[in-house]
Amino acid sequence: MAYISDSNITPRKITTARMQEMKDKGQKIVCLTAYDALIAQILDEANIDVILVGDSLGNIVQGHDTTLPVTLEDIIYHTRAVLKGTKRPLIVADMPFMSFQVSPDLAFTNAGRLLKETGCEAVKLEGATPIVLSAIQRITEAGIPVMGHLGLTPQSINQFGSYRTRGKNQDEAEKILEDAKKLEEAGAFSIVLEKIPYQLAKTISESLTIPTIGIGAGPHCDGQILVYADMLGLNIDFQPRFVRLYANLKKVIKEAVQEYGDDVRNNNFPTIDESYSK
Ligand code: KIV
Repeated sequence: MAYISDSNITPRKITTARMQEMKDKGQKIVCLTAYDALIAQILDEANIDVILVGDSLGNIVQGHDTTLPVTLEDIIYHTRAVLKGTKRPLIVADMPFMSFQVSPDLAFTNAGRLLKETGCEAVKLEGATPIVLSAIQRITEAGIPVMGHLGLTPQSINQFGSYRTRGKNQDEAEKILEDAKKLEEAGAFSIVLEKIPYQLAKTISESLTIPTIGIGAGPHCDGQILVYADMLGLNIDFQPRFVRLYANLKKVIKEAVQEYGDDVRNNNFPTIDESYSK
């Protein structure tokens, strides 16, 4: 899809360096997920800084209960589509479950595939286990920017057994803070903080040089991310406290589709004006 802009001014392309500059200047970084060209193009035109092709596509696009079934091929397919629709945002591709946990070598190979086969500019990995830290070191040394992800890490759902808030007790909070520092040391250019108390997110954001991107982590993070389908009300049954509903697209779409159905059934669509003549 060709990029269409109604402005003559090409806005400045977002890079990882630009994200760092934004943190340093106290400018908030605005991020959303996207999984296809059409939505990605709208986000670009609306000046979103970072688009994450998240493995949340397992829930949003594929209808799974967890993100675990998502494959590297799925992420490649959707990231290619997102790249077709965008120009200005930084595009980050999520590394799906088991694409980076097996070994730093496999993580490195898969991160390389994501960049080479999609054109994305960074990858995201969940957690901070020793293998993940080595993988991040290996990947970043090769010039591939890595976004970390701490707090609620949905790929570990079977270990935790629930999507509860992480870091509410002191031990867990200290561990998340330590992990954040380790991710920065390993070379991550930013870290997603998911569903942790805002006080902990503030401490982490102030302790790190690199930007933090919050989702359910309060207002003190350097940027914010939401799943686009959640904040637009497409996924209306999922309404945790941290999702602000900016639209109710499910209602809009459903009413439009019902109207279309009525028109077809009542022979009101198409009219002759909406038809071709010989
Ligand atoms: O997969 C995803 O969409 C994510 C965001 C929620 C941060 O990891």
